[in-house]
Amino acid sequence: MSSDTPAYLNGRFLPLSEAQIPVMDRGFIFGDGVYEVIPGYGGHLFRLDQHLQRLSHSLDAIKIRQPLSDAEWLSILSRLVAQCPGPDRSLYLQITRGVAPRAHSFPLNTTPTVFAMAETLSPPSQSWLTEGLSAITQADIRWQRCDIKTTALLANVLLRQAAAQAGADEAILLRDGQAIEGAASNLFVVRNGIVVTPALGHKLLHGVTRDLVLDLCRNENLPVSEEPISEGDLSNAEEVWLTSSTREVLAVTRLDGKPVGEGEPGPLWQRVHQAFQRHKAALRQQGSPAQTGP
Ligand SMILES: Cc1ncc(COP(=O)(O)O)c(C=O)c1O
Repeated sequence: MSSDTPAYLNGRFLPLSEAQIPVMDRGFIFGDGVYEVIPGYGGHLFRLDQHLQRLSHSLDAIKIRQPLSDAEWLSILSRLVAQCPGPDRSLYLQITRGVAPRAHSFPLNTTPTVFAMAETLSPPSQSWLTEGLSAITQADIRWQRCDIKTTALLANVLLRQAAAQAGADEAILLRDGQAIEGAASNLFVVRNGIVVTPALGHKLLHGVTRDLVLDLCRNENLPVSEEPISEGDLSNAEEVWLTSSTREVLAVTRLDGKPVGEGEPGPLWQRVHQAFQRHKAALRQQGSPAQTGP
């Protein structure tokens, strides 16, 4: 992240190095805010409508009014894209409840803090593509509303750090005998040739990349199912994949120190990964910052 990273804060465009908020912002004091990470492929804002819908879902859930219209978001994000070196960008946006004296209950009449920035997005490394990721399983110590994309990410931070300390790339979270998702990614397994991912609900984030991967599987005529993944399903899976805006779709080839399947990225992952790359290339071709869509 360079100091001239283009940013937006409360109505102003400015370099990130000049963006400052008061320490009494409830985002700093309580983690009282929500965020989004949106890939920009070329000038194309990937599934912007879906990201803004998820943002509205998160804001409604924590009772912050949406401070900007979709058209205003499009205009802000397009301008940040135009200021950021490409070809691809990662757009981060965050809204907090704003600045107020420290008290847990909501302050009256506080203006939300609105922040966004654009950074160059690098594709997943070649070694991740050829060798896959390693993951460990961890008890899901998060709260009961993992569908809210909150900035209060302490549990996720501790879980990803546990993975890092074990020399792994991600923690896969177990709750009530089921594998739910990663610390910052959604989970897929291939079981008996069927691509399985847990159904949506309060236990996991409704990942935008998850939806694309389901669409790509259907286009490739791969059977998909949204249903629970038991711990046994995970440890016996033919393939394990993780999806996120910044990691796209990656294969897990080592889980808790043991090989997954043949210990290398599997054949169904290869097909979906290639379809993902074709989809990205098509979006880059068609996209101007003003364009959104599937
Ligand atoms: C807990 C969690 N699950 C899933 C995802 C993947 O979501 P998306 O594909 O929208 O990036 C993320 C992304 O940050 C995440 O933090």
